Amino acid sequence: MARRILIAGNWKMNKTATEAAILVNEIKREVCDIDNVDILICPPFTALSVASDVINESNISLGAQNFYFEESGAYTGEISASMLKDNGCSHVIIGHSERRVIFNESDTLINKKIKKAIEAGLTPILCIGEKLEEREANKTFDVITSQLEGDLKDIDVEAMKEIIIAYEPVWAIGTGKTATAEQAQEAHAFIRNLIKEKYNQEVANETIILYGGSMKSSNVEELISQPDVDGGLIGGASLDAESFTELVKKSNKE
Ligand code: PGA
Repeated sequence: MARRILIAGNWKMNKTATEAAILVNEIKREVCDIDNVDILICPPFTALSVASDVINESNISLGAQNFYFEESGAYTGEISASMLKDNGCSHVIIGHSERRVIFNESDTLINKKIKKAIEAGLTPILCIGEKLEEREANKTFDVITSQLEGDLKDIDVEAMKEIIIAYEPVWAIGTGKTATAEQAQEAHAFIRNLIKEKYNQEVANETIILYGGSMKSSNVEELISQPDVDGGLIGGASLDAESFTELVKKSNKE
C-alpha cells in the first residue's frame, strides 16, 4: 500500500485564538477539494478549541505541539493527552528540537510521551535530527540512531505502526536553509532501514517519514519526489494561508 503524503503545519508559539480562527477558515476554503494529501495543523494549546470548531468535518486534522505523559494532577503548566483529545486533537508532535534544546527534553521523557500518546489514541509525530556541528562532524547517522534507540525504547511493532517520524535537521529549522533533496532522501532511507532492522520490512514500508526544515512551496515538490520523503512538518510557511495552501496544492499529485 502506497504511503499517503502528509502536510503538517507546526505553528509553534504563534497566533492567538482569534488569529487562528481567521487562518484556519482561509486554509479550509482553499484546500476543501484536496483528497490526495492528508492535511494537519498544530496550533498552540489556546487555539486548539477554536481551530477544532472551524475544521469540523473538513479534510483538515488537528494536532498539538506537546503534552505531558501523566493523566492528571499536580503538574503546573502542563497539558494531558485527554485534554488534547477533548479539544479535537488526533495527533501530537513529540520531541521537537526546540523542546529538546530549549526545554531540555531527554529521549527518556520523549519515550514516555510516545507511549502515553499511543495509549491515549493520539498519533505521535516524533521529531529527530542532527545539529549543524553534528552534521559537520559526520555524526548525523549516529545522532539519528541514538535518538531513535532512546525514543522508541520498549515500543512494540503494533505501537510502531501508529508513529509518524519527522526528520528535521536542526540547522534547517527556521533558517531558510533547506536540506537538499539528496540529503533528505539519504537520512530518510537511513531511518526507514533502522525501522526495518528494529521491527520488520512491512512496518518500515508503512511508516510515514516527514521532512522538516524550511520546507516551502518552492521546494516541496523536489523533496516529496524522493522515494522516502512522505510529506513535511512545516513551521514558518504554515503561518500564512497562501504559503501553506500553495504548499499543500503542490503536494497534491493525482
Ligand atoms: P521551519 O520549521 O519550517 O520554520 O523551518 C519546521 C519545524 O520546526 O517543524
